[in-house]
Amino acid sequence: MAKSSPQFVCTNCGATHKKWAGRCDACGAWNSIQEEVPLSTGPGKGLGGAKGRAMALSDLTTEEAPPPRQSSGIAELDRVLGGGLVPASATLVGGDPGIGKSTLLLQAAASFARGGLSVIYVSGEEATAQVRMRAARLGLTDAAVHLAAETNLRDILTTLDTERPDLVIIDSVQTMWLDTVESAPGSVSQVRAAAHELVTFAKRRGVAVMLVGHVTKDGQIAGPRVVEHMVDTVLYFEGERGHQFRILRSVKNRFGPADEIGVFEMTGAGLSEVANPSALFLSDRDTPAPGSVVFAGIEGTRPVLVEIQALVAPSSLSQPRRAVVGWDGGRLSMILAVLEARVGISFQGLDVYLNIAGGIRISEPAADLAVAAALLSAREDAAIPPHCVVFGELSLSGALRPVAQAENRLKEARKLGFTSAIAPDGCKIGDAAGLTLTPMPDLTRFVGEVFGAA
Ligand code: TYD
Ligand code: MG
Repeated sequence: MAKSSPQFVCTNCGATHKKWAGRCDACGAWNSIQEEVPLSTGPGKGLGGAKGRAMALSDLTTEEAPPPRQSSGIAELDRVLGGGLVPASATLVGGDPGIGKSTLLLQAAASFARGGLSVIYVSGEEATAQVRMRAARLGLTDAAVHLAAETNLRDILTTLDTERPDLVIIDSVQTMWLDTVESAPGSVSQVRAAAHELVTFAKRRGVAVMLVGHVTKDGQIAGPRVVEHMVDTVLYFEGERGHQFRILRSVKNRFGPADEIGVFEMTGAGLSEVANPSALFLSDRDTPAPGSVVFAGIEGTRPVLVEIQALVAPSSLSQPRRAVVGWDGGRLSMILAVLEARVGISFQGLDVYLNIAGGIRISEPAADLAVAAALLSAREDAAIPPHCVVFGELSLSGALRPVAQAENRLKEARKLGFTSAIAPDGCKIGDAAGLTLTPMPDLTRFVGEVFGAA
């Protein structure tokens, strides 16, 4: 048989190339292409005339009940999973190294075990003694979690086959290797093959699998992106290193809504749940502060109030700075352009800094008006009333567009002691009792009413 020729795979996006190149055509990443020996593909004749097994076909009607869910005992995790763990499902938990994935999954393992599931935790990164030490520190030693430190997938699958646990946690998929694949552990081929074996095992044996995957920007280790397609649920664990808050976000979920978030706080005794994130993202609101505006947002199905802070200062640079943390830089430029073109307020010659407090990232366009308000408030050095929330999407014409779930946003604001709100005209608001609502048709009216004729 002819020796299979090497192929070149991008460690960032998984695209294969015929020859090595400094930059991947598919995703544009630099220095991410590595040589790999392709997986052997059997007799190499293709499947054209091969005799396969005839599939049994069925139709769309079903008598089956929705999958039973097992609660983890950690409400924030259950929420992100779509109501609890689904048996025989595969979940990927991705995140930067050191963000707290192992901590979260060890706590989850213990919690599931206390709930009566049989759980196996396989660490490919730490020795069992290390995991035990962490468990002791987290106060989890009483939970009946079975522990192993192993990276050889053949041994792991053999063990799982005899033990038949309800849940297996693999920390991390990048450390696992199959002896049938020639490339090194952590390469795209290995990660892809290991994930494939584990996911198929989960489906065949009815075992729930949770995989940890590291995301690295420099392409040293294969990103878990190639694995995202194979699993049912993809969760990302995010947060700023310096902040103690961590956000678990579902970006894909075959069993529930995506974009749901769970909020945790990293403490000396592990991760603790934050049941009321709004209170956490807001600072003391009793004194009015220029440049600070509270945005009533929605993360997944839950309303969350966050503080948007802006600072505007004269610039000594020919190209003034535009620095953003927690919000899209392109969208900031758009809002600055709309302010200049539609209201005639220019930020030329001014440095602009925008920050979302608490280390959360916002991607909702509904935050446009709050961002514009923070920018104006900073520029004019005029504070927005401290007990007022703001939301609304800005169109390029300067008009304000209604946003979804306005009533939920207002309810959350009222619950946290806010007394007034500024929202676009035409939002569906059932009951805003207790809040003074000021509907705004466009940005010009907003600037006039809130800042006087600025
Ligand atoms: P870890 O779960 O090992 O991260 P990952 O698996 O994502 O790489 O968590 C590492 C960080 O969490 C480490 O910097 C220390 C911190 N930490 C705490 O602050 N408190 C704790 O109780 C634990 C276990 C970890
Ligand atoms: Mg870890």
